[in-house]
This record gives sequence, C-alpha cells and structure tokens, in this order.
Amino acid sequence: MKGKIAVGPGDGIGPEIIDEGVKVLQAVAGKYGHDFELTYVDIGGVAIDKHGTALPEASLQACQESDAILFGAAGGPKWDYPGSKEQATYGVLLLRQRFGLFANLRPIKVFPSMVNCSPVKPEIVKDVDLIVVRENTGGAYFGEPKKQWQTAEGRAAVDSMLYSEKEIERIIRVGFELARSRRKKLCSADKANVLESSRLWRQIANELAPEYPDVTLEHAYADACAMWLLKRPRDFDVLVMSNLFGDIISDEASVLAGSLGMLSSAQIAGSGIGGTTFGFYESSHGSAPKHAGKNIANPIATIFSVAMMLRYTFGLTEEAKGIEAAVEKTVATHRTYDIMEEGKTKVGTREMGDLIAKAIATA
Ligand code: IPM
Ligand code: MG
Repeated sequence: MKGKIAVGPGDGIGPEIIDEGVKVLQAVAGKYGHDFELTYVDIGGVAIDKHGTALPEASLQACQESDAILFGAAGGPKWDYPGSKEQATYGVLLLRQRFGLFANLRPIKVFPSMVNCSPVKPEIVKDVDLIVVRENTGGAYFGEPKKQWQTAEGRAAVDSMLYSEKEIERIIRVGFELARSRRKKLCSADKANVLESSRLWRQIANELAPEYPDVTLEHAYADACAMWLLKRPRDFDVLVMSNLFGDIISDEASVLAGSLGMLSSAQIAGSGIGGTTFGFYESSHGSAPKHAGKNIANPIATIFSVAMMLRYTFGLTEEAKGIEAAVEKTVATHRTYDIMEEGKTKVGTREMGDLIAKAIATA
C-alpha cells in the first residue's frame, strides 16, 4: 500500500527517537512491500525558533495533506511560557483540536522479560495488558470559561470541566469497541460522587452498556482507580476517562511498564477499528532536553507509536504485530539505560533501533 505521513521530530530527544521510528517504519515497508511518503514538518520549540509559532501554517498544511502524523516530542526550558502561543507544547494541543483527535489511546503491556523493570513488584506487574482511553479534546483542557482575573480580594482563575453528551458518548463508544476487540472489560473512571460532568459521564456509560452486552462495564472513582492500578493492574483491560483524569492516570500506569520510555500513544479522530482513522502518533514522554544529542534515549515509545499508526490509520495489523514482536524479542537481551538490568547488554538509541529493524527484517 501507499501512505503519506507528516513527520515532526520536534525538540530535545525528539529527532533521535524519530530517526529510529522511521528506521523501523522503513524496515516494515521493505519487508511487506509498502511505500510511505514522508514529509518532515516543524512543530514545537523548533518551529518557534524558525517561524515564530509552535504550529506554522505550512506544517499544518502538510499534516492536512497526510494520512497520519508521526511526532517525536515537544518542549524545553527555552520555550516554557505556560498558556502562550510561544509555548512548545501549544502546537500539539492545537493539533488535537484542529483534527478532532478526540480519542487518546495509551496502551501498557508488560513483557515477561521486563517484570523486574518496574518499581512495582514483579508479581503485581506480571502479565499486565491494559489500555487507557483518554478523552482528548474536551473537559478541563478546553472548556470555556477558562481565564484568570483580578478581584477585590486578589486574583482568581477558572477552568471549566465541560462535557456535552455527544463528546461523552463518542469516547465511551471507543472504550466499548476496543474492549470488544480485547478481553471485553471496560472500566470507566470518574468522580461522580462530586462532579456534575462525571454524573453525566456515568449516566451515558450506563445508557450505552446494553448496546455492548458482550462487554462488562464497571465504574470506578478516579482516585480509587489510581490506587487499584498499582494494587491489581492485571484486572484492567480497557479504561476510559475524561481528559484530565486520563492525563494523570496514563502517567501513573506507565510506571507498570518500567519506564515512560516504553509508553506510546495514538490520538485519533475515530475508534481506530477498521484502520482508516487520521491520527497523531507520539511517545507519551517529554523531550528530555538533558538527554538530547547523547544517543541514550529509549526509542521504543516512538517505535510502538509507529505500530499504532500502522494499526489504526493504515489497517496493517500484521505489520503492527511484527513491530511489537520485534521489540519484545530485542528487549529480552538489549536495553537502553532507562530499562537496563543485570545480564542485559546496554545499548544506545541508534543501536536499539538497528536491532529492532533487523529483528523485523529477519522475522
Ligand atoms: C500528555 C502531555 C500533554 C497533556 C501536555 C504536554 C500538554 O502531558 O500528552 O499527556 O497534558 O495532554
Ligand atoms: Mg501527560
């Protein structure tokens, strides 16, 4: 098949991990006879430096003309002006809205060879295989009013955790659909004991449940869910939650996999089922400026993001599984610093990419 991908290396370690993601993508293309046309775009701090804005019109245009966006990481102390258009992460937030990427999928799978990498006990993280479905374009991140103002007593500020029925329904459906394609368990996390938006969320989940009789729906309060994730993570299959809860809980869940360096993400404009959805694919970690240029960063989160892109945008399930199997095979013996263990061979960013690409080519 032929595909068009906009590639944004971004900032910090972004360019290094993207090189390895592209290397693995090309290994897949070579093996399975696909043709991916890549257009490199500036998004993030690098775009602020070159064009004065984190998401220049030309980058947006190139993204619009592509089937998917593959991104490295954005940000760094140099561009840290929270809330401003000169903030490096502003471009990424804007893309979520511009392309209606309402579903953010963050899978956590613990390979047998990596059960000792997590600070959580191996008997707890063993066999964990879950996915956090985070609502990505609404809630406290984007709801209006959103502002700071001056009162007689001092400053005040508000963010609005606003959700419409439509927004809740479409993300909960993604949760149900994904659960249906997996172990058929959906946990919806909310704060229905306190928040009105959560009460609506829970009502809608219950109303949709009869349409998915094969899926077991459970509700959890987000705080309790955070605790259970560390106590009995194996019990979870698909978790669905609002934007802010999902931001927090997906970082927590990454600890189960041993390192944020393993955590990929797909931000998509549909359920991804059927594999034709436009998406923005990136690691869930930051740009780690202090590790930039040293060839030490773990490229696996980006490589897994390539697998998610093949699965959700291009419908190439076999190829996606091929990447995942190649990573599993490689980490059994070779590790970057963040997941290094005794008895394994320590490698850098490029070597890890080479080994995974080779494992694909020779599988
Ligand atoms: C994430 C990040 C972003 C978010 C930041 C960089 C704006 O933490 O993708 O989880 O909060 O969504
Ligand atoms: Mg986050």
